[in-house]
Amino acid sequence: MRIIIENNYQEMSKKAALMLASQVTLKPESVLGLATGSTPLGMYQELIEMYKHDEIDFSEVSTFNLDEYYGLSPQNKASYHYYMHHNFFKEVNIAPENIHLPDGNAKDILKECQAYEKLIDHSGGIDLQVLGIGANGHIGFNEPASKLNVKTNLVELTEETIADNSRFFAKKEDVPRKAISVGMATILKTNRIILLASGKNKARAIKETVSDYVCTEIPSTLLQTHPQVTLIIDKGAASLL
Ligand code: PGA
Repeated sequence: MRIIIENNYQEMSKKAALMLASQVTLKPESVLGLATGSTPLGMYQELIEMYKHDEIDFSEVSTFNLDEYYGLSPQNKASYHYYMHHNFFKEVNIAPENIHLPDGNAKDILKECQAYEKLIDHSGGIDLQVLGIGANGHIGFNEPASKLNVKTNLVELTEETIADNSRFFAKKEDVPRKAISVGMATILKTNRIILLASGKNKARAIKETVSDYVCTEIPSTLLQTHPQVTLIIDKGAASLL
């Protein structure tokens, strides 16, 4: 596991954008795994700036997002469909047919999970996966538990995650209690992973992530079994290392 410590959020975001851009430059038809949340917003802004300055072309890129809330329509402003469209896709030239997110509103959720997993497989696999990390060590919405899902599945969110994410909703009661998340094996079979973390509230999770054990109660520790993981973190997130 490689660890890059940047001075602050802006520098972390810039470094992540440069890594993603070099992936797309080397392989224009790259399949990217994308994340939501506050952390990658700066990276998306940097990528949009690069696109506007003709420094990156997404026309052949495909994307797969990690997760989506259960029961939210794509038009709901708290949905990850809305987040991705609003914060990234509408500003760059990714072909709409190459954009993939799980449908949290699907009638048959388990069928939707299986179909999403198959779509990832049929894409040839994810070249570069961007990850955030929960303060509790969750990856995607793979929450701390004695058992973790191997493949894309419907998951129950923990109280900690519901509280953390309530800032995106009018009130805590509005936060869905379930979500679709790609599984741990889905994440671990991607070719390369960059994990971004900013701020002291992520320091404990980052310390655990680089510890010398793996445990499903801290899902991020499983990243230690992957050969190509780079943590791009700021000084706050690195403060317990
Ligand atoms: P955050 O979420 O970027 O909003 O902190 C990260 C995550 O929960 O994976």
